Amino acid sequence: MKTCANRHKRIGILTGGGDCPGINAVIRAVAKKAINDYDMDIVGIEDGYDGAVNDKHKKLENSDVSGILTLGGTILGTTKKVNPYRYAIKKGDGFEYKNMSRAVIRNIERLDLDCLVVIGGDGTLGIAYKLFKDGIPIVGVPKTIDNDIIGTDITFGFDTALSIATEGIDRLHSTAQSHHRVMIVEVMGHNAGWLALLSGIAGGGDIILIPEIPYQMQHIVAKIRERHRKGKRFSIIVVAEGAKPKGGSVVIQRLVKESSDPIRLGGVGFILSDQIEKATGNETRAVVMGHLQRGGSPTAFDRVLATQLGSKAVDMIAAKKFGHMVAMQNSRLVSISLRDVAKGHRSVPVDHPLIKTAISLGTCFGQ
Ligand code: F6P
Repeated sequence: MKTCANRHKRIGILTGGGDCPGINAVIRAVAKKAINDYDMDIVGIEDGYDGAVNDKHKKLENSDVSGILTLGGTILGTTKKVNPYRYAIKKGDGFEYKNMSRAVIRNIERLDLDCLVVIGGDGTLGIAYKLFKDGIPIVGVPKTIDNDIIGTDITFGFDTALSIATEGIDRLHSTAQSHHRVMIVEVMGHNAGWLALLSGIAGGGDIILIPEIPYQMQHIVAKIRERHRKGKRFSIIVVAEGAKPKGGSVVIQRLVKESSDPIRLGGVGFILSDQIEKATGNETRAVVMGHLQRGGSPTAFDRVLATQLGSKAVDMIAAKKFGHMVAMQNSRLVSISLRDVAKGHRSVPVDHPLIKTAISLGTCFGQ
């Protein structure tokens, strides 16, 4: 591998894990800045780590990244199924797993890349840290609608998902009111409650259930009854897909065997719906916002954030700040070590000021 001298570097760019609005805005910022300011060459690795293992790539010119700022998804493609250190190969009805990290290193050498920009969530960035330790100069960019990456106050994609979830809650509010129903809105967020907490507050949810605060049914029922007594014959419940009852476990929608993170959450809203209808006698419906939250054009906030993160990532490459991720802390762009990022995910602290505020406004957290 060449050492990163400050002229005519070749940088690879890869998007891994679930897509989210704003990825293309990052790709555009990285490519334009790298080409315009540093005269670098940009190579897009296709389909996340699958392209890194199987050498799928395309050169990106200014024209390839022009007009993609507002575009949802990722022009490079992505996958949640490939981990080069545990690469799944179909064998009979199942899979066998191989360490293919050498293939990634070989492909990066063959492409003559000086470094790799990895745009991803906690899983993708955890793998990036391993690749960095194995010798690949890497700069990470935090991406996820879940907002759960350690070391950054905000990830791009979150604001868009939050707006979509909030619009969903708003729309359900009016129909819940007309039919005197309990409406449950299940939102994504994986094992973190950021999306449920903020959309619940923005949408005026009466009950917000997040993974960090295991719920108890008697408190949910008591809140619905209390609202009835006060003449409110409907209730809105915003539940995170990762929410669980006290002493219980999360609801798993499916297992993706070949994925390094095989558990796909989902379905808690329907379970709650049955339980609440039985316990209160109130007609109850559940809606799962699902992948709607990940699709479509990014908000203005996410476009700006993605542009800032992409631009800073290129400056980090020029400064040889590898093994680091660009992050936003207290509204300032900083870089933090991928070692710290790889330690896990960022949960909502149970004493978060927003939880306190919501409680003081009468919101129930199922406890
Ligand atoms: O991490 C992003 C996310 O959308 C989570 O909120 C959700 O749990 C998961 O990905 C869904 O994954 P998939 O796209 O594989 O269904």
